[in-house]
Amino acid sequence: MIKEDKELVRKIKELKKKRNAVILAHNYQLPEVQDIADFRGDSLELSRIAAKTDAKVIVFCGVYFMAETASILSPEKKVIMPDTSAGCPMANMMNADDLRKLKRKHPQSVAVGYVNTSAEVKAELDYCCTSTNAIAVVNALRDKKEIIFIPDKYLADYVSKKSGRKLISWHGFCPTHVKILPEDLKRKKKFHPKAKIMVHPECLSSVVALADVVLSTSQMGKYAKDNPAKEFIVGTESGLVYRLKQDNPDKEFYPASERAVCPNMKRTTQEKVLWALEELKDEVRVSDDIRKKARLAIERMLAIA
Ligand code: 13P
Ligand code: SF4
Repeated sequence: MIKEDKELVRKIKELKKKRNAVILAHNYQLPEVQDIADFRGDSLELSRIAAKTDAKVIVFCGVYFMAETASILSPEKKVIMPDTSAGCPMANMMNADDLRKLKRKHPQSVAVGYVNTSAEVKAELDYCCTSTNAIAVVNALRDKKEIIFIPDKYLADYVSKKSGRKLISWHGFCPTHVKILPEDLKRKKKFHPKAKIMVHPECLSSVVALADVVLSTSQMGKYAKDNPAKEFIVGTESGLVYRLKQDNPDKEFYPASERAVCPNMKRTTQEKVLWALEELKDEVRVSDDIRKKARLAIERMLAIA
């Protein structure tokens, strides 16, 4: 365990107040970053907080598309990232041109896209969705003949099975979640036979098939709290285990695979948060035309969920 740097934490708190800033951290962030955050959450929760906060500055500890989403929802606020090189490889697997071509191939379709996409891709979408509400969004489109669902092929497969809808998908995936293999779950289950298996829908379909429940990161937190089970195998990025343990000190959590670490989520450190607050950068902004279109897709999602 790294010793807490009290002086650094004190400086961050002081500067945060002075700047009228709020620190948002995704559930996969390093423990030291989660510890200084005002709010921790999954993609949907963080978008909602970003849309509501009165703070002037949002320090976003997560990956680039998440900070972009915050800026889309709160353009009057300054959204800064402690490390803008923290991207999401899945989001980078499809660009706006790819989506335009796919839409041209399926002119009757409605386009639904995971929040793990760039602002330019979101601007081409009819609906955005997150892992929390993907099934609800697709279910709300009963009257639509064809549905494009991008960019994650595993999330698309899961949503298609749950909704009974055939979806036109893309070949994107999360390089971190695909590291979790069915053998990992079987091995962990052998050692912990009473443990409930929770997995994220970005996992391989063969992994999803072995799960007791398929949930977003914050939904996993709620499930672990409400479920009488004392042990849980966690099939997502291993950073979530820190939060799960903190929130449920009487329960045990085993990462499905120690290999499931998102290097981009680990780029943010306390030092970088302090520098970001000192210099009020790097700012993440989305041009007005893209922002207005992308916002529509996000608002349609928020209206459904
Ligand atoms: P959540 O919305 O479940 O937090 O997931 C975001 C993400 O990037 C998962 O890899
Ligand atoms: Fe992207 Fe996967 Fe990292 Fe989530 S865990 S931010 S989907 S690369």
